[in-house]
Amino acid sequence: MARSEGKVALVTGAAGGIGAGIAERLARDGHRIAIVDIKDGTPVAEAIRQAGGEAAFFHCDVTRPEMVEELRKAVESRFGACDILVNNAGRYEMRSFDDLTFEHWRATMALNLDAMFLMAKAFAPAMRKAKWGRIIHMASNSTFLAPPGMPQYIASKSGAIGLARALGAEFGPDGITVNVVAPGPIDTEQVRASFAAEIGGGSGAGFDDFIGMMVANQAVKRPGKPRDVAGLVAFLASDEAEFITTQTIVIDGGWARV
Ligand SMILES: NC(=O)c1ccc[n+]([C@@H]2O[C@H](COP(=O)([O-])OP(=O)(O)OC[C@H]3O[C@@H](n4cnc5c(N)ncnc54)[C@H](O)[C@@H]3O)[C@@H](O)[C@H]2O)c1
Repeated sequence: MARSEGKVALVTGAAGGIGAGIAERLARDGHRIAIVDIKDGTPVAEAIRQAGGEAAFFHCDVTRPEMVEELRKAVESRFGACDILVNNAGRYEMRSFDDLTFEHWRATMALNLDAMFLMAKAFAPAMRKAKWGRIIHMASNSTFLAPPGMPQYIASKSGAIGLARALGAEFGPDGITVNVVAPGPIDTEQVRASFAAEIGGGSGAGFDDFIGMMVANQAVKRPGKPRDVAGLVAFLASDEAEFITTQTIVIDGGWARV
């Protein structure tokens, strides 16, 4: 078997963007998909079912411990224990250190880092019992490039990398790998909207101008797509990747050459 087919895969932040791309790809690989989001993920689940896959939407704010515990129960009663956990939900905001309040800092940490801890607490025990599991954290190439204007984002994503290393070391003997995917700019609606507002504001420049500047830094001269990230996640979730753990793989067309 080329891929670990027929597992239960949970993807956070899968109502749109990269998460939806990952959910669709893992469904095509034969997994049963739990789509988790605070936004309505029913259309993504429906599209997967229409294509012949199995998926259900679970509403959950992954920053809230009690909701994460309810989520675990709901997913287990619908599909059984989760085998593949993709912590994709994340928030991004351009903000210089001078404009950064503790509230902004906390909100970013809560989603980009605390939620990964909560999800591991809820879902790793069953993986350890099953002696098989895959945990994948979504970080960013900005951890390596460290541009100014997003200290809270860079710090949170660096924390996600550290947590993956630590958990990978603890869970390895139980057949669980923990890895990180670190994309560069990926063409999603959210990124388009935020760059049109933040960078383009007033100047007329928007995502297309932004992506043009980004692509100029890359070795591969095209914008990244959700399907690029989804392909890497699918590989890390597979049996073929069982010897890869605690690693961070940058997927940005060769910009951050780490
Ligand atoms: N798009 C990019 O260019 C890019 C680049 C590098 C890293 N990333 C990372 O990839 C991930 C996905 O990015 P995206 O561009 O698809 O973002 P997106 O905003 O399109 O998707 C994020 C999803 O997370 C959901 N979400 C937000 N708060 C939540 C919460 N508390 N509980 C559950 N769900 C919640 C949102 O509703 C949304 O559907 C993020 O972690 C982001 O930091 C994105």
